[in-house]
Amino acid sequence: MRITELHKKIGSMDLYIRDMRIEKGRIHGLVGPNGCGKTTLLKMIIGIIKPDSGTIDLEGLRPTDITMASQRPYLMHASVYDNITYPLRIRGARVDQEEIDRLLDRTGLLPLKHQYAGSLSSGERQKLSFLRAIVFHPSMILIDETFSNLDAESEAIFREIIVERHKMDRSTWLIVSHQWERLNSLFDQTHFMEKGRIVE
Ligand SMILES: Nc1ncnc2c1ncn2[C@@H]1O[C@H](COP(=O)(O)OP(=O)(O)OP(=O)(O)O)[C@@H](O)[C@H]1O
Ligand SMILES: [Mg+2]
Repeated sequence: MRITELHKKIGSMDLYIRDMRIEKGRIHGLVGPNGCGKTTLLKMIIGIIKPDSGTIDLEGLRPTDITMASQRPYLMHASVYDNITYPLRIRGARVDQEEIDRLLDRTGLLPLKHQYAGSLSSGERQKLSFLRAIVFHPSMILIDETFSNLDAESEAIFREIIVERHKMDRSTWLIVSHQWERLNSLFDQTHFMEKGRIVE
């Protein structure tokens, strides 16, 4: 993916990205302080908000190949199971029950499979949002601070899943964090952002 001359003025923020390359098949970090524009950039990549000008060249990816696990996950008013299988159902893909159960089990959500998603704790919501994002084996995954509510053990499991999926699917990851030290070892490349600009 290549982002060029991207402008977005929103509130008091002036986001401008002259040239950013998100190389295919790698795990990228997007790191920067609160309010620097990370979520806004992700939303433009996924198409939820429109830039004022500039281009985001998907370089052959289709919008439906890209997914985002949001910082404030929106879950459907339905069970955990219905939420996680939704991306498969809307794509007409087969639901592999064993794979679903395996993912839920690894992340501690299996006992909650038939629970109403609205009643989950914030960490559990983030876990479900992450699993829902990866369940259809997307080519590109945007992760927005999904780890911020996870305990250390859960975080380690999610890192494991990312590494496995990255190997298996040759997928591209863009992972937002303001805790670079914690995730640094996972990233092939880190993009540092400050006040609406990529600075390094
Ligand atoms: N719809 C909006 N209206 C006004 N200001 C907005 C809007 N959306 C975002 N902003 C502002 O743009 C700036 C960047 O927001 P953004 O959510 O992209 O930051 P972020 O880097 O993701 O921060 P955090 O690490 O806290 O999640 C913030 O100052 C925010 O208040
Ligand atoms: Mg954010």
